[in-house]
Amino acid sequence: MSRKIIKSKTYLYDEKIETIAEVPEKDLELLPLNKDLKIIGKKIPRVDAEEKVTGTAVYTFDKIFTNIAYGKTLRSPYPFAKIESIETSKAEKLKGVLKILTYKNAPDIRWYGDYSKLFDQTVRYEGDEVALIVAETQDIAEKAASLVDVKYKELDFVTDTIEAIKDDAPKIYKRSNIPEIRGHAHYSRGNFEDGIKSADIVLEREYSTQVAIQNPTEPHGSVVKWEDDQLIVWDSTQGVFSIRDIIAGSLNIPESKVRVIKEYMGGGFGAKLEAGKYSVMAAIASKEIKRPVKVILDREEMNLAVGNRPDSHQKIKAAAKKDGTLTAMSLINYGAMGAYPAGTGVHWPLRSLYKCDNVETNEYRVFTNTGRARPFRAPGHVQGTFALESILDDLAEKINMNPLDFRIKNFTPIDQDSKRPYTSKKLIEAYKAGAKAIKWESRKPAGSSGGIVKRGLGLASQIWWGGGFPPAYATVKMNRDGSVQVLCGTQDLGTGTYTFISQITAEVLEIPMDTIDVLIGDTQATPYAPSSGGSTTAPSVSPAVYDAALQIKEKLIASASAVLNIPKEELTYSNGKIFETKNESNSITNPKLIRKMRERVLIATGARNQNTDKYAINTFGVQFADVEVNTLTGKVKVNKIVAAHDIGRTLNRLTLENQFHGGIIMGLSFALMDERVIDEYTGKVLTTNYRDYKMPTIKETPEIEVIIVSENDPLVSATGVKGIGEPAIIPTPGAIANAVYNAIGVRINSLPITPDKILTALNSRG
Ligand code: MOS
Repeated sequence: MSRKIIKSKTYLYDEKIETIAEVPEKDLELLPLNKDLKIIGKKIPRVDAEEKVTGTAVYTFDKIFTNIAYGKTLRSPYPFAKIESIETSKAEKLKGVLKILTYKNAPDIRWYGDYSKLFDQTVRYEGDEVALIVAETQDIAEKAASLVDVKYKELDFVTDTIEAIKDDAPKIYKRSNIPEIRGHAHYSRGNFEDGIKSADIVLEREYSTQVAIQNPTEPHGSVVKWEDDQLIVWDSTQGVFSIRDIIAGSLNIPESKVRVIKEYMGGGFGAKLEAGKYSVMAAIASKEIKRPVKVILDREEMNLAVGNRPDSHQKIKAAAKKDGTLTAMSLINYGAMGAYPAGTGVHWPLRSLYKCDNVETNEYRVFTNTGRARPFRAPGHVQGTFALESILDDLAEKINMNPLDFRIKNFTPIDQDSKRPYTSKKLIEAYKAGAKAIKWESRKPAGSSGGIVKRGLGLASQIWWGGGFPPAYATVKMNRDGSVQVLCGTQDLGTGTYTFISQITAEVLEIPMDTIDVLIGDTQATPYAPSSGGSTTAPSVSPAVYDAALQIKEKLIASASAVLNIPKEELTYSNGKIFETKNESNSITNPKLIRKMRERVLIATGARNQNTDKYAINTFGVQFADVEVNTLTGKVKVNKIVAAHDIGRTLNRLTLENQFHGGIIMGLSFALMDERVIDEYTGKVLTTNYRDYKMPTIKETPEIEVIIVSENDPLVSATGVKGIGEPAIIPTPGAIANAVYNAIGVRINSLPITPDKILTALNSRG
């Protein structure tokens, strides 16, 4: 129960995140392995499943007040323009229009998201914010938006990344489109040229990946409401506390005056880590009209303005000896930030996944007149792994080595930068289990499959962080009747957070899950927990919940000792009851005990532990793909994906499989289907709805087999949990690309692998 303040380090990309946090004084007893537990690790249906399928779950979109008003954002139709004038009088005359905000009448403030202006007279991409119209109904707001008369002066624009780096390209900000500050990132270890010299085979290849849009089922949006000087924001967000701080900072009001609430969520893949300008604009309008305001983005806005996975243009050089030793790798990459600063790096898998002493990478971030990139499920790793795993397969082929043996040969048990061992790396076990499940031994040499429909097998590996970190807290309250409420400032993106919090509490206190209520995602009601990003929710939050539940159990036992007059050591806690170990009939139930105590609510707050500094904390895995390529139509059909991973403890087998299914289907989409397409002459996005923006349906969904080779990771925390949201997607496109090559013997170096690319490649080979 006693606490200490510590420094804890965690790593995410190039960022060493040092946190100062309150953690338990002593290490908690390790949670037993799943085989010795009753609830954790089992297939437990979501506790919120019924609300979701019956439609009673209230999402941001469903939030309603009698006097609510509706907002519509007017966005730039041009990729690059100066606003010469805005005339709103016609729109204001429309019956039901309540407020129109533009750069002319809105406060001139910086938005704390990317520090751009809330309203700017220059619009830098199609979809950049121009005005917010608030009206009695959504229809009126949209009608009014079309009546706002904006005179634009169109500017020369550039939407293509490679065009944007040319000297004569239009400049998004007066200077170079590769910014001087942090426009270039360099990494190296060893001596690349020496590595090349010592190799028997050197390959050089270029790869490109498309821009993909997160497109969660539930759109971005906010409902805002002022209660006196306090602003309440219901937002579809991955981080209630970070959203609170962005909104409070932008509005220049105390953080205590902003309450952010997130109840149910229909997905968030990284783009919802950040507040939207719409929340701040809605808050300003709401204050003026003294009514709650709802701004929910439509699908077109989702595809234009709230983020994307940036493209990549990668040039890789890789070298190996005949025995399979990787001797050198280098990477040059260009990726588009869009019109505002964003991360675009892809080098991490190449840097960290395999043993290689000589590595050099150079990456460039490029401004373009397109929507700004935002994190998207394993940012950079999906793109980087595709390219890395493609060239490794080519190398293996050149030295006549089985691609699986090639990867095993270059396995590393230590992190090559810090030289620390990993807390756990059961990747060899994963290779073996996965290879068996996909029948890897049946794999034929590339292109040797006969007939019109050719079959192939491929694999790709995965590394990610996802160990979680402090500070993260959870409070468990037990009432007089034994019912329990758990409070935690985390959020459930649809991943099952509500359920695993309930499971852990039920497991420790040995009470039914239906006596436990979980309240999360409310900055005013819950203790702090971090944003749900980087696959850190369960690894950060589960130890805090476990700690709080253990403390409640301790309190119950100590109190029972006082009530029963029996030393603690002679008492046993079991199934919500405490009894004398040698005389089970001398017992007291939790409700009776709490009544006797004359306390109405027992409370304990648990904390996430410090991270170890002696080990590197990562997740690992491999996916195998079994595909068919129709050489007449060019269509790829993925028959099966086997995913074998070391991701620590499984909290819930059902939600774990859900995560893998989602990640793999999303990875399949990136490999074969989804792509933001921009018309080069107008700079306009052509794929702004679910029909034009291609995503898989049940028809494209393959058979998926999930194998978990880890039982827990006790060096991470007492629950031994690591994240799985991102590991699930990372290797899928690389595995599919390698399987396609294995089927047809021609390599497609650019994603998505669409039928036209396959047919072109087959034709060029003759
Ligand atoms: Mo994720 S891209 O950290 O939501």
